[in-house]
This record gives sequence, structure tokens and C-alpha cells, in this order.
Amino acid sequence: MGLLMKFRKSSETLYEDDFFENLRKREFSRLAKEKHVYLDYTGGNLYPESLVVKHFDYLKSNVFGNPHSMNPTSRLSTKYVESARKAVSKFFNASDYVVIFTANASGALHIVGENYPFEEDGFLMLSSDNHNSVNGIREYCKNKGGRFVYSPLNYEDLSLNEQFLNDALEKETSAKNKLFAYPAQSNVSGVRHPLDYIEKFQNAGWDVLLDAAAYVPTSQLDLSVYKPDFVSVSFYKIFGFPTGIGCLLVRKDKFSKLHKRWFAGGTVSLVSVNVDNHYLANNHERFENGTVNYLEIPAIERGLDFMEGIGMQRLNERVASLTAYLIDSLLNLKHQNGNELVRIFGPINRKDRGGNIILNLYNHTGAAHPFEEIEAMASSRMISLRGGCFCNPGIDEVNNCVSTDELARYYTSRDKGDYYDMIAFLGKMRGAIRLSVGLATTKADIDEFVKFASTLLDK
Ligand SMILES: Cc1ncc(COP(=O)(O)O)c(C=O)c1O
Repeated sequence: MGLLMKFRKSSETLYEDDFFENLRKREFSRLAKEKHVYLDYTGGNLYPESLVVKHFDYLKSNVFGNPHSMNPTSRLSTKYVESARKAVSKFFNASDYVVIFTANASGALHIVGENYPFEEDGFLMLSSDNHNSVNGIREYCKNKGGRFVYSPLNYEDLSLNEQFLNDALEKETSAKNKLFAYPAQSNVSGVRHPLDYIEKFQNAGWDVLLDAAAYVPTSQLDLSVYKPDFVSVSFYKIFGFPTGIGCLLVRKDKFSKLHKRWFAGGTVSLVSVNVDNHYLANNHERFENGTVNYLEIPAIERGLDFMEGIGMQRLNERVASLTAYLIDSLLNLKHQNGNELVRIFGPINRKDRGGNIILNLYNHTGAAHPFEEIEAMASSRMISLRGGCFCNPGIDEVNNCVSTDELARYYTSRDKGDYYDMIAFLGKMRGAIRLSVGLATTKADIDEFVKFASTLLDK
């Protein structure tokens, strides 16, 4: 039984569903005008036309001033920013959380890195499947004298190695401030890592940072059920517009655990110049340095409304169905000698995966086509896909069997380097192709990619 058939049981034939076909025509007709085949939803979602139109009407018909004042234009801005904050809280069922607006998910992760008390006997465990904006937190940990470790992945399906996690829970009992950071969904393999780890680690005295940036665009995250201490999100990944806004959700009972080392405009309730003293604001303002993006934050509320109108469960099933159709179609492609054209890294037959997959394409002798070549060929057909390591070196090191020794030799042999220098040194291929489906994807997009891939058969 093909993967598609297995999915059909739960999601029927949603990959051909009229609701989404109509949505595509209504909100994303610009794709057809320029014959785009967009398969990079994990990079950034596409904005529905109505969202932009409504937002421009809103801007056109109101006068907004900088918040943090009591004048009428300032109060109007504050009103809509706070309304958007409430909408975020409602969307994630997050009444136990402080919602801090940031520039993006990286900005949210930066707040955790900068302010988590690693200096007080800190220990950071990162999954090897993390975006670099999570990986970078290890620098704060190191610089503050904390220790860090990576939890490995299973080669076969790129899931987290449960044995390692259980051992860490047993062994790492002494550190005072322990933080486990992992993604709800891999931005590369699409694996959805179990959210049950959150409670398991918290019960053993850990704090948990859940990077939800790749998960929330197509799945509901209910923070009254799963309660990580910190959650990072970028809104353009959910509904495409606006860019430049994300948020950090911090559990209210962990808010004071983040120790802010400085202050900026908007983050204090009082500060003096003649006396070296200041009081930090006691709410989200503490971490929103300077002026928030008050003209665009209100669009977040409309974006979330739009998503609720579609229904996250419906979208989730649609994406599952499209992904199964994509995987099934690709795995059917074989050279005449029986060799596979496509190899997918990570799971192909499990339900707990999202709509992004990584793969490489191989010629009939079994040699991989470099991802740059595929990306260039796809681009010439107006297909937007992504090639490389996707800011997630851990997965790439696993997929391409790059050993710790090899990496150590490379890094100790020079002061600077880049991707091309490294592959020359290792004599190994790195990188892959990522395809991701989402809100506006139709079956026709997938068929178009499969048609393109088929041109490489028997080559
Ligand atoms: C899982 C994950 N985390 C974090 C980020 C960083 O998001 P941003 O670039 O919006 O800060 C991304 C971006 O692709 C991501 O996919």
C-alpha cells in the first residue's frame, strides 16, 4: 500500500479539495499570472491578497502615532498593538504566557540566549536538528561559563535519539539551570518531534525551549495542553504578511528567570541618569526594546483570523495529503535500470511529519546531481525550491555522514571558511533540495515538479 493510500484513510483526497482550489484562485491568483510553482513554504509563506488589501485600507483610513504616549494617535496604535497581542494569545491558547513581539523567530531565540541564566551553573542541551538561530544560543551559554551538549539524531528517520534523551534526564541532575532546546517540526526533514518531551523534561527540573517556527504554519499549537517554557514563532511563515514580526511566548511563571542585563527605550518603568538605577517593566515591554513595529503588528490579528477561517486542522490534513502525494509521486520515479531518481532523507511513511521534505536526485549510475544544478534548472521553469543546508547543519552532517573527526580537522586547519571550501576539504557532497508545501499549494504544483524531475530520468 502506497503512502498516499495510508494517508487517504485520515485525510481522504484532500490534495484535490475544492475549498483549497478556490482559495488559491481567490487569494493567490498572482502565482498563475507569472506561472510560478512555489514550493518553499517553510522558507516563507505566501500572503493572501485580501490580507494585504485589508491592511492597506486600515493604514489609509487611520492616523497612527508612536505608542507609549497618551495622545490620540499614540493611543490608537497602542490599542491595535494590544489587540494583536491578545489575538496571538488566543490563537495559541496561551493565557499562561507573556507574548513578546520580536522581529522574527531569531529575535525571539536571541532573547532566550541573551537572558537565560547560563552563568549560574547552566547546562544547555540542543537537538542536532535545530535551526542555526537555536544553535547560536550555545555561544551565550559558553560565554557565560555554562556547558552544552547536542542530542543526536537517528540516521534512518532523523528522529531524536530517545535513549540519549532518557540518559540525559537521568545523568544531568546536578546543574541548576538546565535548558533543552528543540524544534516542534524540523525546518529540514519535516519531522515533528514529540511534544511529550516538554513535560518529561520539565518534570525532571529542566526548562524547555520549543522552536515552533516551522510547526505553527500548518499545525495548531495549543499552549494550554503543551506548556514549554519558551516558544519562538515568525508570523510571515504562517500567513506571509507582514515580514519582520515574530514573537517569543514565555510562561508567566518563568518570566523572571530571564535576567535582562540592560535597558532600552520602552523597557523600563523608571530610570535615572544621576543615580545609577533603573526599574525594568514588569510585562512584555521588558524585552521589546525601543519602538515596536506598530504599523504592521495589527496585521497579525487579521492574519490569525484568516488562518482560523481556514481552520488549522483542515490545513493540517490538506498539507499531510499533499505531502503524501508528493512523496508517493517522487518515489515512483525510477530509471529504466531500476535505480531510484529520488532519495528522500528522513521519514517517508510516518504521519507525524509536516509538509517539508529533503531529497537529492540521482542519475542512472547512482551519482547525485549537485543541488545547485537542480535549483538552477528548476528556477528556469519558475519552480521555487530551496537548495543547501537550510541553516540546519546538524541534519546535513547526519545525512552526508560527516564525522566529528572530519569536522574537527577542518575547523582546526583554518580561521575562516565557507561551504565550498569545506566540501573541497572533505571530498564529500553536502546539501540537498528542500520542497515544502503549504497554504496555497495545489496538486498541479506537485505535478509540475514531478514533471520537471522526470526530465532527469535515464540521464
Ligand atoms: C525551525 C526554524 N526556526 C527558526 C527559524 C528562523 O526564523 P527567522 O528567519 O524568521 O528568524 C526558521 C526559519 O526558517 C525555522 O524554520
